[in-house]
Amino acid sequence: MAIYQATASAPVNIACIKYWGKRDTKLILPTNSSLSVTLDQDHLRSTTTSRADPSFEKDRLWLNGSEEEIKDGGRLATCIREMKSLRREVEQKNPNEPKLSSFAVHICSRNNFPTAAGLASSASGFAALVSSLAALYKLPATPSQLSLISRQGSGSACRSLFGGFVAWKMGSASDGSDSLAVEVAPQSHWPDIHALICVVSDDKKGTSSTSGMQRTVETSPLLQHRIKHVVPERMNAISEAILAKDFDTFARITMQDSNQFHAVCLDTDPPIFYMNDVSRAIIALVTEYNRLSVENGGKLKAAYTYDAGPNAVIYAPKENLKEIISMVVKYFPQAEPFKDPFGLFGAQSVGAG
Ligand code: PMV
Repeated sequence: MAIYQATASAPVNIACIKYWGKRDTKLILPTNSSLSVTLDQDHLRSTTTSRADPSFEKDRLWLNGSEEEIKDGGRLATCIREMKSLRREVEQKNPNEPKLSSFAVHICSRNNFPTAAGLASSASGFAALVSSLAALYKLPATPSQLSLISRQGSGSACRSLFGGFVAWKMGSASDGSDSLAVEVAPQSHWPDIHALICVVSDDKKGTSSTSGMQRTVETSPLLQHRIKHVVPERMNAISEAILAKDFDTFARITMQDSNQFHAVCLDTDPPIFYMNDVSRAIIALVTEYNRLSVENGGKLKAAYTYDAGPNAVIYAPKENLKEIISMVVKYFPQAEPFKDPFGLFGAQSVGAG
């Protein structure tokens, strides 16, 4: 008897221009475009195996060994339903194909890093889920087409379908058909950029991105300013900086956008705090490091960015990494660099590594 099974894995992506706010909560359509770097090494990945079998009674999913409920009409159910409907198209065109779309699926997913600690686990998770179903169903879909579906699992997941530098174009269609991820540049274009992940805390975050975003959209006047007057220009400027391999501009915009995202969280009523004292101390360290470089006639050497959690991601050209790691270890002596899997501080490289 044939076994219908496929495994795929997807890495985490870390945004330089942050997505924060939905204009449609069901379809997950954002209030602004965003741009991220997909981390290309093995440390921060979700790996997912999907299996279809006529003996399965219902769709089921296990995350890191524990079964998760697939709620009717929920995000998981939506992604599975959309993937089955693409499979149905394949079966209609090709009647010899087995009718996998009518079988239930069992899905098993693992993250090799702390789940929901502000390390974008939902991004890699939904991207791996959609990729494994696409492989199982032998879909002729492009990464951008698959991004339309992973977006409906978790917005940022649409960007993990590509490696390298990726934009999520917010689109304007009310059905979401143009709200998808596109490649700005492949990782090979600028392999010199690396990311150092400083795991400040691997606790589950306090305010989920879903409820945080909703509260921000409802209450923050700063978000409205950001959507209209800040992000469109930054998207163009950072894309140009990436194409020109201009780290100075890339770093400046990345830090400004992280700061504005956290300002928007503070502008939410009641306010949301994702960073803690250690996060802020890392900002001070990177700021001082850059100030010394600029004062000596140099350029920015590192860029920090924070998602919906206290952990820092520091982007830097490879030549500065050693210096940055020794600085971090010096000022945060409790850090345990390079423990694998992640210790308090771990290094993760982006690019050729
Ligand atoms: O995709 P979500 O719902 O996990 O939201 C992610 C939001 C941020 O990580 C804070 C920003 C981003 O663009 O990834």
